[in-house]
Amino acid sequence: MTYTVPKLKNYSAAALGKAAGKLVSALEQESAAVKNETVWKEFRDRWVGRKSGVLTQINELWLKAAPKEAKREVGQLVNELKKEVENTVELTLQRIRTGAAESRLTAERLDITLPGNHRPLGAEHPVIKTMNEIVSVFRNLGYSVEDGPVIETDYYNFEALNFPPNHPARDTQDTLFVANQESKPLRERLLLRTHTSPVQIRTMEKMKPPIRIVIPGKVHRNDPPDASHSPMFHQIEGLAVDTNITFGDLKGTLDHAMKALFGSSVKTSFRPSFFPFTEPSAEMLVSCFICGGSGKRGAEPCRPCKLTGWIEILGCGMVDPNVFEFVKHNGYDPQKISGFAFGMGADRIAILKYGVDDIQLFFNGDVRFLQQFA
Ligand code: PHE
Repeated sequence: MTYTVPKLKNYSAAALGKAAGKLVSALEQESAAVKNETVWKEFRDRWVGRKSGVLTQINELWLKAAPKEAKREVGQLVNELKKEVENTVELTLQRIRTGAAESRLTAERLDITLPGNHRPLGAEHPVIKTMNEIVSVFRNLGYSVEDGPVIETDYYNFEALNFPPNHPARDTQDTLFVANQESKPLRERLLLRTHTSPVQIRTMEKMKPPIRIVIPGKVHRNDPPDASHSPMFHQIEGLAVDTNITFGDLKGTLDHAMKALFGSSVKTSFRPSFFPFTEPSAEMLVSCFICGGSGKRGAEPCRPCKLTGWIEILGCGMVDPNVFEFVKHNGYDPQKISGFAFGMGADRIAILKYGVDDIQLFFNGDVRFLQQFA
């Protein structure tokens, strides 16, 4: 119930005291109900507003209406009430202001005993880590990094690498072809690249010799997954073209790279092999860095090198002049320049380096496995 200022019927000390008491308790009640500044403004206007505030009203109804003999006493009382009301209005404002600040502080208070936000750092995947290591060995030799598309044309994956149409060497690649390409000419048909070698051609088309590049990347082959096969895996290709590049340069470069990767005591060995895009071609082996080349680990046979003391690590060779013919217009005249190329399986190297016994572990995304390499 809101307070209204009564008219005074008599001006005895008792009556004045009672009226003042009612006013003050109404003032306190209303003050206590003020919770924000909007309400406080209404409260202020109601009590100290010039026109019709309670103070103006007591001035009119109590003081002005008082008989002469009571004026002094009523005047004193009204003055006291004025102080009281103005004081209360001011204190009410202070209360809601500090109250608002306090509740803001309470809301923002930092609880330093709470556990912090855990933001686990990612780690390099062991295959990517291995690829980066290999790339950095070649970077230190002055090689730069190139890449190319995983979905490739028949031309770059085969034809320009000296795999003629219908040549049996194509069968060794277990190619995954993109469907519904039959209406296109053969060389434009799409497939998933089976090796990183197409980037040799793509790079020679855009860069004149001399070049020294490495090409890390994903490749695909139609191999059913098992402990040592995956339809998706990774290769690192290398290509060096300049005047007077010899097989000696190939051997020296790869021997250095293997020592940098597996330790200075490993030996390398080359065996004749065949690739359509290199001539002569070779397979390179490194002495087994697990058993030290003995084929045995104590009394046990060394499984990674199949007891031979040697591990097959990559394919390589001198770039076939037929390959240069496809990029001859860009300065690759096989009469004037020569080059070597190599390609290795990054996953296989990671398997050997980390002693992993199943390539599938790299790709099925079990964080418990991957965390071991962090
Ligand atoms: N591209 C070959 C393969 O995937 C590897 C290779 C690259 C061989 C370069 C010789 C030169 O088997």
